[in-house]
Amino acid sequence: MSSTRATNRDEIILAHVKRHGLGLEIGPAHAPIAPKAAGFHVHVLDHASREQLIEKYREHGVDLTKIEPVDFIWDGRPFPELVGRTCTYDWIIASHVIEHSTDLVGFLNDCDALLKSDGVLSLAIPDMRWCFDHFRAPSSLGRVIDAAQTGRRAHSAGSAAEYFLDVVQKGGRLGWSKGETGEYALRHSVGEAKRAMTEKTAYLDIHEWCFTPTSFRLLVRDLLDLELIQLKELAFHPTSGHEFYVTLSRGGERPPQARLEMLQQIANELAERAQ
Ligand SMILES: C[S@@+](CC[C@H](N)C(=O)[O-])C[C@H]1O[C@@H](n2cnc3c(N)ncnc32)[C@H](O)[C@@H]1O
Repeated sequence: MSSTRATNRDEIILAHVKRHGLGLEIGPAHAPIAPKAAGFHVHVLDHASREQLIEKYREHGVDLTKIEPVDFIWDGRPFPELVGRTCTYDWIIASHVIEHSTDLVGFLNDCDALLKSDGVLSLAIPDMRWCFDHFRAPSSLGRVIDAAQTGRRAHSAGSAAEYFLDVVQKGGRLGWSKGETGEYALRHSVGEAKRAMTEKTAYLDIHEWCFTPTSFRLLVRDLLDLELIQLKELAFHPTSGHEFYVTLSRGGERPPQARLEMLQQIANELAERAQ
């Protein structure tokens, strides 16, 4: 989906990152923001190995040489257990990853546990309105909390069905900018949805969660208010192309808007999607 990304996206994502500190990039694949090759002192975590990622992206027309070795292969364990340490990293970057997490609260708390007390989690997140999630529903707080209570390590049959039945492309693109024209087309068949629902052997790499900028910001604030997480918003950068950016940290702040105002803003964002 790289065609509709801001030209200065690396600067936005790195804005609060101590560049000489130790970092972790989760799911960099073929588009690392902070590669070892560029001198970053970084570890890589992904659910797949470098070799598996190369196979996965071979037909995607991307630069496979950018895929760096994966230091920690996620196998369902909490990140601190997988990595074998806590309070270690100055920064964590996850670009187009959090929406894949099976348990979003677990993901945020695992990152929090890995970060030093002043560490930051820098997220680039697809805006559901302008990518293949266009026709899906924004993720509810209830589903996020329920996934946390079961500590889900794989996508549920329901999530798989919803994803495979509803994702689209527009004019052949998986991500686009507001106002770009093109015909919508469904990407998958009912048969693929049925197969995905019963897939037991492999980790299904799908979007579990869909957000508008405000639905994500309100979700984080609600999780904070409900004492389910301790990370707070340090920075927000609105949608550019098909993604928006949020940096979280213990030292961040709770967005001060009234809840009703944020709910109204989400409704306005969703109304914009039809334009
Ligand atoms: C859509 S790609 C994003 C690649 C790159 N960061 C970018 O912005 O283009 C998602 C990446 O996250 C990885 N991933 C998906 N689910 C994951 C999980 N639960 N834990 C860790 N990595 C995951 C995928 O293997 C892939 O490398």
